[in-house]
Amino acid sequence: MKQFFKIAFVIIAISSFTACYYDKKDQVYPQVVVAACDTTNVTYSVTVTGILNANCTSCHGASANSLGGGIVLNTYATVKPYITNGRLVNSILQNGNASPMPKNMAKMDVCSINKIIVWVNRGAINN
Ligand code: HEC
Repeated sequence: MKQFFKIAFVIIAISSFTACYYDKKDQVYPQVVVAACDTTNVTYSVTVTGILNANCTSCHGASANSLGGGIVLNTYATVKPYITNGRLVNSILQNGNASPMPKNMAKMDVCSINKIIVWVNRGAINN
């Protein structure tokens, strides 16, 4: 009987440690904080598209463009999967978790990176 309580105690102890553990469904990226970077009205249609057009779609434009390795980032539908799998944010952060982008170039300015992260953290909606 004593042994039973011992085992029961161990099981309760273990489960109380593991009970609070769960996988985060959506990854939330820490923002890069800079002065004078207005992120209040970040949208896909204006802000994100503007940044991608200025820095990315020369290679990731039309699907026929081989410069982008077949990755097309000029529509919401084609961008979204790279948000969901974390590759786009990791690539622009150049943090080693995806191929660093823009390819063979320095990181984009911090404000542009921050705006994309803010848009992603707000749900990466097609706004
Ligand atoms: C000079 C051309 C060029 C530019 C500019 C460029 N890319 Fe790329 N990108 C590539 C090529 C080629 C690949 C596929 C090979 C690789 O992963 O390096 C790629 C791959 C990627 C990937 C997949 C990475 C992975 O690890 O799976 C993402 C996401 C991406 N690019 C996003 C971007 C974003 C966002 C920008 C703009 C900030 C950008 N790229 C600018 C050429 C470019």
